[in-house]
Parts: sequence; C-alpha cells; structure tokens
Amino acid sequence: MTVQIPRYSRILGTGSYLPPRRITNDDLAQQLARDGIETSDAWIIERTGIRARHFADADVTASDLALPAAQAALQAAGIAASEIDLIIVATSTPDMVFPSTAAILQNKLGIAGCPAFDVQAVCSGFVYALTVADSMIKTGAASKALVIGSEVFSRILDFNDRTTCVLFGDGAGAVVLGASQKPGIVATELHADGRHVDVLCTPGSVAGGHVIGHPLLKMDGPAVFKLAVGVLEKVARSVLEKAGRSASDIDWLIPHQANIRIMEGTARKLKLPVERMIATVAEHGNTSAASIPLALDVAVRDGRIKPGDTLMLEGVGGGFTWGAVLLDF
Ligand code: UT7
Repeated sequence: MTVQIPRYSRILGTGSYLPPRRITNDDLAQQLARDGIETSDAWIIERTGIRARHFADADVTASDLALPAAQAALQAAGIAASEIDLIIVATSTPDMVFPSTAAILQNKLGIAGCPAFDVQAVCSGFVYALTVADSMIKTGAASKALVIGSEVFSRILDFNDRTTCVLFGDGAGAVVLGASQKPGIVATELHADGRHVDVLCTPGSVAGGHVIGHPLLKMDGPAVFKLAVGVLEKVARSVLEKAGRSASDIDWLIPHQANIRIMEGTARKLKLPVERMIATVAEHGNTSAASIPLALDVAVRDGRIKPGDTLMLEGVGGGFTWGAVLLDF
C-alpha cells in the first residue's frame, strides 16, 4: 500500500520593485492645477492615507517592473530562474494585448518551456494568482512557481479626473511558491460578482487598429468603498473557518492597499489591532494587483514578518472581485 504524502505550497522568497520616480501629493496637485483641476495633499491624506506614489517612465512596461521583483524573490528563495516551472502574472496593465506579460517576463528571465500566463482580476489579481498557483502545486502540476503582481496603472489614469488619478501608482511584487509537505498556504477563497462591472472599469478595447470605448480608468469610489467594506470581513472570516482558526491567530493582516480607511475598518471588524496590519498605501498608493506582494515584501525585508507567522492576504477590486489567502509564512 502506498502512503499519500500531503502536498502543500509555501512561500520560499519575496521580492518587489518600485520605479524610481516618486510623486508626492503636492507634485500631483501642482501638475493637476496646471489643467485647472483642484486637489490637495490634505484631501488625499485625509480620504485615503496616500502621501506619495511611484510612476514608471513612459517606455517602462509591467514586465520591466516584474523582472527585478521576480529576480529579488528568486534570490531570497535561493533558487535559480531555471528551476521555475510555472509563471503567473496578475496584471490589468499588460505589456500588450497578447502575448501575456508572463510569457514576455519568462523570456526576460532567460528561461523557456514552463507554462506562463496572466491572471486578470484587477486589484484581487494577486490573491487569484496565488490561489491558482497553490492549486497547481497541490495537484503536482508545478513545484516551484513565480507568482507576481505587476502594474503600470499610470498608463490608464485619467488626469482630468481628480476622483481617481490621485489614488493609483505603479510597482511590482513577487513570490516564489514551492511544494512542501507542510503548509504554507492553509486556506483560500475567491469570489466575483459581475453585476458590478460598471463600478470600476477601463471600458476600452482595440478593434480594427483603433481604440474603441473609453481607455482610461473609471470608478464610482463611494460604491466601491461600500462593496469592499462588506466583503473583506466576510471572506476573511470564511477562510479562517475553513482553516479551523480564529482572527486572533493572525499575526499580520495584509489587505489590498487601496485606502487606509477601508484597511483599518477591516482590521477593526476582525478585532485586530492596527499595529498587526501591514500598510504601505501611504508611500505606494494603490498599485492594484501589485499592492499585496509589495506590502508583503516590505514587511519581510524590514523584519516584521518572520518565518512561522500567520498571514491573512485580502484582495478586492474591479469585476467586482474579492478573495483571501491564509498562510503560514
Ligand atoms: O483598488 C480597488 C479598490 N478601490 C477602492 O477601494 C477605492 C474605494 N473608494 C475610496 O477609496 C473613496 O471612495 C475615495 C477615496 C475614492 C473617495 O473618498 P470619499 O470619502 O468616498 O469621497 P467622495 O467621493 O464622497 O467625495 C467627497 C468630496 C466630493 O466633493 P463634494 O461633492 O462633497 O463637493 C468630491 O468631488 O471630495 C471631492 N473630491 C476631491 N476633492 C479634492 C473627490 N476627489 C477629490 C480630490 N481632491 N482628489
């Protein structure tokens, strides 16, 4: 009789990359004022907690940001790019219509052969990608996966719309996920509700060589705010229940970095002190699919997150999509 050894996935290393151009709220306010659009550092901080964001230069793509993030994660994991047998990139700002940013990144990493594809779940993208990679590792379809969130949201911002352009930034975060006999990832849960497509979208496409529709980001902020607050507590509790754990077992909450008010509200509802939440939104803004792995890497590298800590990762965004991953680091 053969004994089935359980197979899980765990994070072996993390990495991240921010483009060097840092734009403060005052920089942005001055830029918008030139077009007669009024905003202020005080409004942005009070309503969002954002103080600055990074913008990539015009010729820099999502795969360009993903490459140094992936290399840093590989180095932290102590493995070579050639050992990677799966690449998933979560992005809503891909390099091209096709091929995938993951395939382009694979080439930039100097490897070939392993499956590489993108996941499109907007700000929930990293949690979606991590869940897919976890499932593929558990089934034996992969053993060492690169899972990346990379975004150049500055490309799709409408700088005539002060209700959205002050919120987002560019960046990339990566993890190497490896097969393991013990978790690792303990429980995951994903959701989508397409009835809310319109609350957060970039409703443009390319046809016959022309852009059709509106190629810039549109958001009903208050509607997204309300939806986000409702689902984040629920999905966190559901994942904890699946894992047979309680909120007090969470060492670090790493929510999608959209708005400090939503993030602190989620921590409060879970009765977690805000000191146990990783917040990088002040310096990064909302980097969509990159926000969670960026925050994770910052806290791993500054020594807050330690091996064995229990982490709750939570994503929420366009689609409407949301999800959570509970893991032992
Ligand atoms: O990544 C996906 C997830 N996305 C999110 O989670 C975003 C969720 N939504 C939010 O974070 C918030 O709704 C926002 C930060 C987008 C907006 O904050 P709010 O507290 O909901 O403000 P509001 O939209 O109700 O606007 C309040 C006022 C309005 O003026 P009136 O109508 O009261 O005169 C806006 O026109 O603030 C005005 N306003 C601004 N004023 C200065 C909106 N944007 C700006 C701005 N600067 N940039």
